[in-house]
Amino acid sequence: MRVLVSGGAGYIGSHTVLSLVAAGHDVVVVDDFSNSKPTVVGRLEALSGVHVPVHAIDLTDAAKTERLFAHEQIDAVVHFAGLKAVGESVAKPLEYYRNNLDSTLSLLEAMRHHGVHRLVFSSSATVYGEHAPVPYTEDYDRLSSSSPYGQTKVMIERIMADVAAADPALRVALLRYFNPVGAHPSGQIGEDPQGIPNNLMPFIAQVAVGRRDKLTVFGDDYPTADGTCERDYLHVEDLAAGHVAALEHLDDMVTPVRAFNLGTGTGTSVLAMLQAFERAVGRELPYEVGPRRAGDLPAFWADPTRAQTELGWQAVKTIDDMCADTWRWQQANPQGFPDA
Ligand code: UFG
Repeated sequence: MRVLVSGGAGYIGSHTVLSLVAAGHDVVVVDDFSNSKPTVVGRLEALSGVHVPVHAIDLTDAAKTERLFAHEQIDAVVHFAGLKAVGESVAKPLEYYRNNLDSTLSLLEAMRHHGVHRLVFSSSATVYGEHAPVPYTEDYDRLSSSSPYGQTKVMIERIMADVAAADPALRVALLRYFNPVGAHPSGQIGEDPQGIPNNLMPFIAQVAVGRRDKLTVFGDDYPTADGTCERDYLHVEDLAAGHVAALEHLDDMVTPVRAFNLGTGTGTSVLAMLQAFERAVGRELPYEVGPRRAGDLPAFWADPTRAQTELGWQAVKTIDDMCADTWRWQQANPQGFPDA
């Protein structure tokens, strides 16, 4: 298939580009580079051995999106592009709703106009909200999210379901990610947050490489084994493989729109993650315990049974793999991707 990857220069998108090429697909990237560097593209081409066509456009521009589809022959879309910082979305809700919804609407319109009816969407475990029983299962239907970012995921899932209900040809896989971490084993691509990292793993990696003084653990008085929050961390390479599996399964899905959890099914605490990273680095890393972060849930993880049975997909990489690969990437690229 010739697959349009929106947000293909980003963290998960770039790893998925490599997995798609390795699986024999042609890839076209669209990215506005608002949260990624163009230099990732050269690395993707070096690692994959193929030319990766890139369209540097903003998908909220419906006319440009339409021209992109007129110009390229597209069989399927994997839609990652979007703003994704939980805290920022609380401060800038309009930007989040405008950007994430408009870009998706442009894509869906262009897909309809050009008869493209295969879609894989980058959703999130955040759609389960605060009250879903753990482990999360896909049939939980009171989806909600406490942040505007998370609400855009809930809304986009709904929009896609409505559009599919009106278009019998459309097939949509909604992939609900748990906590993606790790990097390509080459150390050439990885997560490169701009500014102070919001997420645990890149923060620990920047402490390890000397860019930050110490990790602040956000609360150690949660009702968990060691008092710190537990999350279902999965390796970005496993996650990328999940996209290929979902894409190749679209035509055989039991319903035209299907949600799949992509996680390991196991929770790991903040302190256990820090210890695993210390094993990868070979020394202790400085940390302090601070107050809880607003909005954090104590513990959640996936029930990944549906992805296993229907997609034949299972996460195989360990927490130690995730830390070793993140550390390799961070050591080789202490400041992330170069500007040029
Ligand atoms: N944490 C720290 N210190 C830090 C950063 C994080 O202690 O400096 C803790 C958090 O409190 C949390 C855990 O590490 O307990 C994981 O935090 P992340 O920010 O890495 O991940 P979250 O589970 O909070 O967020 C993820 C995704 C979001 C998604 C959210 C809810 O990054 O996109 O899950 O599903 F919305």
